[in-house]
Amino acid sequence: MSKLVIVAMFGLGVVGISSSAALAADAGKAVFEKSCVSCHGADGKGNSAMAKMFGEKELNIVDKETTAKKDDALLKVIAEGAGKMPAQKTLSKDEQKQVLGYVRSLAK
Ligand code: HEC
Repeated sequence: MSKLVIVAMFGLGVVGISSSAALAADAGKAVFEKSCVSCHGADGKGNSAMAKMFGEKELNIVDKETTAKKDDALLKVIAEGAGKMPAQKTLSKDEQKQVLGYVRSLAK
């Protein structure tokens, strides 16, 4: 085995151990990018073309009005939909929580 491979394997091992906390955040990001960006934008501030289509002023979910709401209320919107927001039926409970965590991290 070459030295390079050994170094690479060691590197992966360290990343694997140190990133389990970061893993949930990464999972939330992946869900967000797959399921939410089209309407809410990569930064959560909303896709204005989509907002126009929905007849909404904006689809910002990182503003104070949204972030002041409790997790339960926002998780309900994600799981069941609200108004013109479609229910995100393909997401597991864990994924819903992870994606909300990611949204909250964007709002900071
Ligand atoms: C097809 C477009 C669309 C997609 C995709 C979408 N949303 Fe929404 N979302 C909306 C609309 C429209 C609203 C406003 C609903 C209303 O009228 O109350 C909304 C509202 C919300 C709210 C509530 C904001 C508030 O102040 O109550 C949250 C939280 C939210 N979306 C999160 C998400 C997350 C997380 C995803 C991805 C898993 C997602 N949305 C995917 C269109 C979308």
